[in-house]
Amino acid sequence: MAEVTARTRSPYAPVTDTPARYAREPAGTHPALDHAPYKSTALRHPKRPLVHLPHTVTEVTGPQLRRLAGDQDNNLLVHHGGEPIGERIVVSGRVLDTEGKPLRETLVEIWQANAAGRYRHRADRWPAPLDPNFSGAGRCVTDEEGRYRFLTIKPGPYPWGNHYNAWRPAHIHFSLLGRAFAQRLVTQMYFPGDQLFPYDPIFNSVRDESARQRMICRFSIARTEPSWATAYEFDVYLRGPAATPFEGAL
Ligand SMILES: [Fe+2]
Repeated sequence: MAEVTARTRSPYAPVTDTPARYAREPAGTHPALDHAPYKSTALRHPKRPLVHLPHTVTEVTGPQLRRLAGDQDNNLLVHHGGEPIGERIVVSGRVLDTEGKPLRETLVEIWQANAAGRYRHRADRWPAPLDPNFSGAGRCVTDEEGRYRFLTIKPGPYPWGNHYNAWRPAHIHFSLLGRAFAQRLVTQMYFPGDQLFPYDPIFNSVRDESARQRMICRFSIARTEPSWATAYEFDVYLRGPAATPFEGAL
């Protein structure tokens, strides 16, 4: 009988509260907190042993997320008076636990650059055009099957000051918030076939090759909207052998 893995298990299968295994992510799944080629990590990584703080009610409770996101918060194409410039894309997927159990009522937030690779942020001053019809931020709450969906514009690559001629591959930042404030996870989603992957210290701060691949979304012809938008799928696994790499994971 074929082994049931996190990727093959049906999300509809009954799941007990106790996973069949607690296999940890392989070494190199999550980016190192101090990664020399990514220069700013030298200043911000912890230099002393971490202090364990027991969770109190403040950390183990959180807002009721179901009503937090408005109807159009996941549609970044309609947040202003006109249409943003760029390639329309659908970005959708599921949030899953170790064994493929879908996680409903997870707040999924995204932020990204516009089609020209510029953020609407006062710190982003490189001479690419801002788009008056694109803010680059959205949010939604996963449904009963752990699904989320965004309509947005494919972001462009942008230069950054890490080293000479440094460019970030096109990416969308993701934040996931579960049932408690202590359950926030942050990652980045990349696009298939980006020529900038070999040159990006942030992408390569995830040392494990298969884990890097799990940060790259999949083109999905099935989820395209004909004559309207192309589509990409990106499933997020919170932990286990198929875990998505997360920033700041210890
Ligand atoms: Fe970014």
